[in-house]
Amino acid sequence: MEAGWEVTTFNRGSSEPFSEAVKVVKGDRTSPRDVQALAESGSWDAVVDTSGYVPTNTLEVARALAPVAGRYVFMSTVSVYRDWPLKPLSEHSEVLYCPPDAGPDYGTDTEDGPTRYGYQKSGCEAAAVAAFGADRTTILRPGVVLGPREYVGRLPWWLHRVAAGGDVLAPGSPDRTIQPVDVRDLATFALHTITEGTSGAFNVCAPVDGATFGGLLADCAHATRADASFDWVPDEVLLSHGVRQWSELPLWRTFDGVWRVETARAQAAGLRCRPLSLTVRDTWRWMVESGEASNHDRAAEIGISREREAQVLAAWRQSGERAS
Ligand SMILES: NC(=O)c1ccc[n+]([C@@H]2O[C@H](COP(=O)([O-])OP(=O)(O)OC[C@H]3O[C@@H](n4cnc5c(N)ncnc54)[C@H](OP(=O)(O)O)[C@@H]3O)[C@@H](O)[C@H]2O)c1
Repeated sequence: MEAGWEVTTFNRGSSEPFSEAVKVVKGDRTSPRDVQALAESGSWDAVVDTSGYVPTNTLEVARALAPVAGRYVFMSTVSVYRDWPLKPLSEHSEVLYCPPDAGPDYGTDTEDGPTRYGYQKSGCEAAAVAAFGADRTTILRPGVVLGPREYVGRLPWWLHRVAAGGDVLAPGSPDRTIQPVDVRDLATFALHTITEGTSGAFNVCAPVDGATFGGLLADCAHATRADASFDWVPDEVLLSHGVRQWSELPLWRTFDGVWRVETARAQAAGLRCRPLSLTVRDTWRWMVESGEASNHDRAAEIGISREREAQVLAAWRQSGERAS
């Protein structure tokens, strides 16, 4: 809107519209009638689809919009790659196969490799291309998206925990590199592909080796002005205590490929990533201003309990393996 674009949103309306200047079309993408009504309220230069999860539904939506929209920007994920998170990857890496008209049951979850979600998103990518053609489709594959309004609770959990101060269980090594992308940089890049007419698939993560877990937690301490000290517990110790990766300690995952997603193609096409410290600062600001900082219910399903954190830390200290 700042660039003078006319913006239409289409969703069920469970959250407030951003601005009164947005044209709001309420509807459910799984309702053919709602999708038809949406198509009739066009036309548009481009569609940005952030909620396509089932191929057959994405195919229906994209087919309905193909006559009234110039480009389809589909928000996908790195989970479409067969080897994520086990191995480093680029856009040349193998993508899971899923037909464009697959239903919600296609694909299976495996222990540490492919997930049904990944198969389904791959089928959605194929559906977008089937309806719009490769030269009118842009596929964006983020890894982890952080920033203000993040409701998953990954960064908010760390900010809550660090703000509470004391001895914080810090996972693995402070030198582990991470590459979450700021939601605002992802959005800016999505719009950039529209203005530039950029087609194809892009990994949309911060550059490999650009930030570290140690830097992230230091940024959390700085943003919250917390009196926290970090006790770095090695991966193998956490694993021996059964600490769940990704959920009990958000963003902590040990596989080689998690944070080794090549992003050179997106950078060459215009992706610009702000420093992680700004994402952390602005997320904390949003949490404080919106009351999110004291809303622990939202983060309840993610994160280790304080009791279990203390137990693991105590066991680690007693083991005598901790560097003095
Ligand atoms: N979060 C991450 O770290 C991450 C990482 C990689 C990829 N992604 C991808 O990024 C995209 C956005 O993620 P998100 O977690 O923000 O998605 P989300 O919670 O599913 O919803 C995004 C938007 O879609 C609307 N929506 C959902 N279901 C709808 C339906 N049936 N009909 C119409 N509108 C619907 C929601 O509004 P209403 O509820 O009002 O309908 C909301 O505005 C997803 O495609 C996801 O796969 C996310």
